[in-house]
Amino acid sequence: MARFTTFLLAVSCALSAAAAADVTLPAMVEVDIIFPRNETYAPTPVFPLVFAIQNLAAASSIGPLDISWAIWKPGSDQPIQFGGNQTVDKTNSTDLHYINLWTAGLGGAESAGTYQLWWRVYYYACLGKKDNPGGISGSRGDNFTFTLDPGAQQPNLSADLDACPAQNATIVITETWPVNASPDRDVCGVVLNAHIDANPCAVNLDSAAASSIAAEVTASACAASPPALTSGCPPPSETKDSSGSRVPVWSGLGMFTGPLLAGLLLLVLQ
Ligand SMILES: *[C@@H]1O[C@H](CO)[C@@H](O)[C@H](O)[C@H]1NC(C)=O
Ligand SMILES: *[C@@H]1O[C@H](CO)[C@@H](O)[C@H](O)[C@H]1NC(C)=O
Ligand SMILES: *[C@@H]1O[C@H](CO)[C@@H](O)[C@H](O)[C@H]1NC(C)=O
Ligand SMILES: *[C@@H]1O[C@H](CO)[C@@H](O)[C@H](O)[C@H]1NC(C)=O
Ligand SMILES: *[C@@H]1O[C@H](CO)[C@@H](O)[C@H](O)[C@H]1NC(C)=O
Ligand SMILES: *[C@@H]1O[C@H](CO)[C@@H](O)[C@H](O)[C@H]1NC(C)=O
Repeated sequence: MARFTTFLLAVSCALSAAAAADVTLPAMVEVDIIFPRNETYAPTPVFPLVFAIQNLAAASSIGPLDISWAIWKPGSDQPIQFGGNQTVDKTNSTDLHYINLWTAGLGGAESAGTYQLWWRVYYYACLGKKDNPGGISGSRGDNFTFTLDPGAQQPNLSADLDACPAQNATIVITETWPVNASPDRDVCGVVLNAHIDANPCAVNLDSAAASSIAAEVTASACAASPPALTSGCPPPSETKDSSGSRVPVWSGLGMFTGPLLAGLLLLVLQ
């Protein structure tokens, strides 16, 4: 137990040390789902899905991270919406990193009902021995329910800024090993196979971040082909400006076909 506590201390020291460009290990990367929460919302043409990543810089040895999500009605065997393997921009940023996604198709009054949101973050970890490591894809994630009801509040990132994220996943990297055999990477990260407490409330939005994420989601939905939003869109010049943002915006829809859906189902059933 004492040893474990020492380890946790080491992790929290590493978290502050990671503010420097070089990542000190062990270090913890945390993924939090900021929106939606386990709540009831009005159906809306563009429903935001917002993730935050704490200490993304520490994920360089296990990246790039990929995020997949799916929404389905409980009891159904087919997701109604999904986005597969959205790659998180390679970044060495130690800031909070927001992933601003959205989905169309939850807009009509007929969308009322309870949904399950399944999400998963994929990483690449060392496997085997230090002097000859291979790699393996690992993942963390969870699922929770939310409800759509035409009488409820519109999804609003600026409402309830004090509420903590619905769910989280933590990945602790203890050391890195050199990799010789891969053209893609010089090192792999050793991922700790244990539960470490998350700190999800650290990612609570302030009102400026909430407005900026909402604006990114709107601009992305307006720019989609076909547009998922036609009113309330920024003028084209502003859309152009926001493309310089480091926050990736991705709809994840429209490009997926039957075989991919089948792939996702396999993934869910594993
Ligand atoms: C990120 O990496 C770039 C290029 O290696 C470097 O110039 C920059 O200082 C790094 N930024 C941080 C925050 O570490
Ligand atoms: C996402 O990537 C992981 C790891 O490469 C793979 O196992 C999984 O099948 C992919 N999922 C989707 C939905 O593409
Ligand atoms: C959703 O979460 C529940 C409770 O944690 C779990 O039992 C179930 O297997 C999860 N479903 C999927 C598809 O991951
Ligand atoms: C979310 O809310 C619903 C309804 O209030 C509840 O049944 C469910 O257990 C909650 N938790 C999760 C993790 O979905
Ligand atoms: C979202 O919530 C904020 C804070 O409560 C409020 O000022 C704003 O008017 C709401 N926006 C919408 C579209 O309801
Ligand atoms: C983080 O997520 C885990 C698994 O869903 C949960 O048990 C834990 O309560 C969450 N931590 C916090 C502080 O919310």
